[in-house]
Amino acid sequence: MTDVAKYRSYSKFEEFLHNFYSLSQTARIYSKNHTLVLEGIEKFSESINSCMENESLTFKISNDQLYVDDKKLPYNRTTKNLFDNIIRYCDTRDLDGVRLFKSVKLASAEEILAFMRLLDISGQQPEPLAWLKDGLAAENIQWVELIKKTERPQDEESFKSKAERRERARKDYTYAKASVEEVAQKIKEGKGEVGVRKTVRVVQDMVMNLIEDDEVYSAISTLRVFDDYTYTHSVNVAMLSMCIGRRINLSRRNLVNLGMCALLHDLGKIEIPKEVLHKKEKLDDSELKLIEEHSLNSSRLMLKLKASPDSKARILVPMFEHHLKYDLSGYPHADWKKPLTLFGKIISIADKYDTLTSSRAYRRSLLSPDRALGYMFDRAGKAYDPILIKVFINIMGVYPVGTLMKLDTDELALVVSSPSRNFSKRPLVCVLEKEGEGSYKKKEIINLDERDTETGNYVRDIIETYHPANFGIQPVQHIFSSN
Ligand SMILES: [Fe+2]
Ligand SMILES: [Fe+2]
Repeated sequence: MTDVAKYRSYSKFEEFLHNFYSLSQTARIYSKNHTLVLEGIEKFSESINSCMENESLTFKISNDQLYVDDKKLPYNRTTKNLFDNIIRYCDTRDLDGVRLFKSVKLASAEEILAFMRLLDISGQQPEPLAWLKDGLAAENIQWVELIKKTERPQDEESFKSKAERRERARKDYTYAKASVEEVAQKIKEGKGEVGVRKTVRVVQDMVMNLIEDDEVYSAISTLRVFDDYTYTHSVNVAMLSMCIGRRINLSRRNLVNLGMCALLHDLGKIEIPKEVLHKKEKLDDSELKLIEEHSLNSSRLMLKLKASPDSKARILVPMFEHHLKYDLSGYPHADWKKPLTLFGKIISIADKYDTLTSSRAYRRSLLSPDRALGYMFDRAGKAYDPILIKVFINIMGVYPVGTLMKLDTDELALVVSSPSRNFSKRPLVCVLEKEGEGSYKKKEIINLDERDTETGNYVRDIIETYHPANFGIQPVQHIFSSN
């Protein structure tokens, strides 16, 4: 094939993808008889006719590259926006591609439009692919085959749906919270040596689930409800720490130790009187001293727990270190010259992030999650390990799940998923609609990384970000619920 012929065949396939994506967008916005929709269907059908040489026509994503009938299409300045849009479009629908069979040439305009609309709406469903398959069956559309996303290697048994994984993470969260609460309660009651076998089991389960899918765990700190700080903080710190640990490839055993240490890092706070712990006014010197002793007290209490000397040894020091800071300028003010341990560095990052974004009643200004990350990034190399901070931002995304934002379309939106692909910088958000006084309902899920294929500009821009508590919004109601 000459270069010119090759170029022509590629541009024909690009045209097909362009017509496919444009129709998906116009079908969403306009009614079925609108000229743009009718024109879009015609162009789509024309490009199918010109591209389909045999029994079928397939476009497929593999390693972030687009293929049409096994021909890799060039990713360049001209095709970049279109390809990025298609990859994201498929990504949110759990698809790697679509195969159209010859009989599509006989499909009516109504059928093609029905397919496009089902495909589009499936992106807002908790189980997009299953929902789409049912929809196509109900419409009796048989000329299309959906190619399921194979992003993670899964065999039939280990595969768990997104909804199942969320449910499991939710259970892990509840069990972890209950178990740390139980340990604290038993210590308070002074009932002899307190065992942590149950807590270890809970953390082991968390590690197993986290290894399968860490996205849901990094997002789970949004489960926190406003009036419940003490133990949810411990669970959040544990989950976020373990996410960092997983990203830097810690072994399962080390992840369990890290999780245990993070879950119990603030145990020493049980010795601080509630009036001091929750005091809204400025603390006096003796109160401050009490607070600053809690990390040392956590280690001291840990010594008394019934656990193997080996695991105690691994978690005592990081507990003591969690407020010391990377440059050792934090507290307790000890003559401690050793650099922080890896666990200490990890937990101090997770701890600070959760503290900055938690909406404790006495905090006056609430930082939005993205600004909390910015605040911490500014202190990299001083308060936090610079490499681990980068790892953490990579996990959370530039706009972490639970960030509330105002868009240039005047819409209010909540981040429901941070980008999973490297080139994507913008999140998936759920547009919220006001429903009576102070309450909001989900409207639609949109991808902020979506660009206009003609101009290359973003379809929507972010104007401002907020902490959801400033609007009385509990992210969990919109993110972890299926309705
Ligand atoms: Fe602490
Ligand atoms: Fe803490």
